[in-house]
Amino acid sequence: MSNFYDKLSLRQLRKDDLDAIVEIDTKVLGETRRDYWVTKIIKQAETRPPDASLASEIDGKVVGFILGEVSGWEFKVPNNIGWIDTIGIDPDYQNRGIAKVLANAVITNLKRYGVDTIYTLVNWNDWDLLQFFHAMGFSRGDMINLVLKV
Ligand SMILES: CC(C)(COP(=O)(O)OP(=O)(O)OC[C@H]1O[C@@H](n2cnc3c(N)ncnc32)[C@H](O)[C@@H]1OP(=O)(O)O)[C@@H](O)C(=O)NCCC(=O)NCCS
Repeated sequence: MSNFYDKLSLRQLRKDDLDAIVEIDTKVLGETRRDYWVTKIIKQAETRPPDASLASEIDGKVVGFILGEVSGWEFKVPNNIGWIDTIGIDPDYQNRGIAKVLANAVITNLKRYGVDTIYTLVNWNDWDLLQFFHAMGFSRGDMINLVLKV
């Protein structure tokens, strides 16, 4: 493991990372959501700053990704609110600090757009993500999620 971090590289996410992301998501969730990712990675690509979404690679294989955004960026509206939309690490590569490297890199990039506050939404039952964001210094925000089933 000594040269693990030497092998880890980060780069901007590309549309052709779609297959790798679908594969990671399938490994994480146990189901395949290709259409969902086509929308997120390809159709919505222009709504996010290119350096707000990153992929991490080991030996040329995508082992993790993060999608970040800046509110109002596509309309050129200055905004201090950034979002971490999704983060996913291949289960075979979890618990090695890869998510932390990705999140810190995205936070650095978001700050360059004037972002000083970052939001993310996590399912209350998603213990891994809650623990991860807690470890990253996130705390509970002021907004709550209201639901009406109709
Ligand atoms: C949550 C997730 C991103 C963490 O990735 P990771 O690479 O294993 O996390 P890291 O190794 O970088 O951990 C960073 C910090 O978070 C903590 N952490 C991460 N997962 C944790 C867990 N399950 N329980 C407790 N702490 C955890 C680590 O202990 C570490 O803390 P430290 O900085 O104090 O040492 C990863 O488990 C994942 O992708 N889960 C699935 C998320 C998902 O559903 N995404 C959408 C579909 S792809």
